[in-house]
Amino acid sequence: MSSGLGSEIVSVINKLQDVFTAVGSSASQIDLPQICVLGSQSSGKSSVLENIVGRDFLPRGTGIVTRRPLVLQLINRPATAPQPNGTNPQLNGSDKQANESEWGEFLHLPGEKFYDFNKIRGEIVKDTEAKTGRNAGISPQPINLRIFSPNVLTLTLVDLPGLTKVPVGDQPKDIEKQIKDMLLKYISRPACIILAVTAANTDLANSDGLKLAREVDPEGTRTIGVLTKVDLMDQGTDVVDILAGRVIPLRLGYVPVVNRGQRDIDTSKSISAALEAERSFFELHPSYKGKSQYCGTPFLARKLNMILMTHIRTTLPDIKARISLQLQKYTAELATLGGPMGDASSGNIVLSVITEFTNEFRTVIDGNTNDLSLNE
Ligand code: GDP
Ligand code: NA
Ligand code: MG
Repeated sequence: MSSGLGSEIVSVINKLQDVFTAVGSSASQIDLPQICVLGSQSSGKSSVLENIVGRDFLPRGTGIVTRRPLVLQLINRPATAPQPNGTNPQLNGSDKQANESEWGEFLHLPGEKFYDFNKIRGEIVKDTEAKTGRNAGISPQPINLRIFSPNVLTLTLVDLPGLTKVPVGDQPKDIEKQIKDMLLKYISRPACIILAVTAANTDLANSDGLKLAREVDPEGTRTIGVLTKVDLMDQGTDVVDILAGRVIPLRLGYVPVVNRGQRDIDTSKSISAALEAERSFFELHPSYKGKSQYCGTPFLARKLNMILMTHIRTTLPDIKARISLQLQKYTAELATLGGPMGDASSGNIVLSVITEFTNEFRTVIDGNTNDLSLNE
């Protein structure tokens, strides 16, 4: 895979997502590729995402913790200072001290850089409560967060509230339907790659995530199975039959992972320690040791990046056509409004973002279209 070209395309796609969030729902029919986690409440969705990012920053825990979609853009950005030798540049033990080369930015707080990942978690909680209240309410309004780091693969991920059946707190009686409808908005899009998360200590046949994924992706062309809590399985049981496709086959397969348990969260176990524990779990376990390179978070991250790049390349011509159409429409709309607008409108910002994007879009994507088609 020509990684340079790949990360360039993904960074353009990331910019696009900001543009379309800024211009609002009328542009949302453009299906930009992204990866969504889908599964029951507390199956480990937020934990999986956090391990992929390699930093502690997502609210996790028992109960309904994730109550708004979080659109998370990971952007790989080389460190200014050289990295120490012998570390994996993509998923190393990156929960080190905050430094200048890793930070987060929220779309709702433009220009503010968060170097402290605990403060990122704090802001997610704060903005969730601001829009949904404190008592288990949910909202379909997404939080947009970008993480810039030399230690991540360039990916766009969406953390979603879990499927739940029984209303708690301020939740309405039809909470199950409300969450389902919210999830369907994301996962119905053909450009959505679904991470269907199921806890390995529950019955795969009852997996709410897999069931819903099947509704929108019956052929399984964009659903990856993720099996969490493999460490909590009864002794003598394993997920080998599932991995071999003998239970519910998935075209893109399953990846087993071990995240931090609640006790690890309570005792602030670091991600590097967690990834190390995960690695030795699979390397030493009698059922997995022969195939441990196909197990765990680093394999999942690599698999995701590859699937995403293939997906972007395949859908690029279609995205390009749709963007051109939208741009024409907005240019015409702005012209009828009589040029630049006053402070009362976000039109200026949108216009400048679109202009900036257009230039980049032309130089990066137009310039590479031929290469891309040759690669396919
Ligand atoms: P979500 O509701 O699906 O986002 O799930 P969370 O990521 O918030 O995790 C729910 C609970 O399950 C937390 O207490 C986690 O510590 C725990 N958990 C998640 N994955 C694993 C795992 O692989 N092993 C163990 N032992 N616990 C896990
Ligand atoms: Na949870
Ligand atoms: Mg969650």
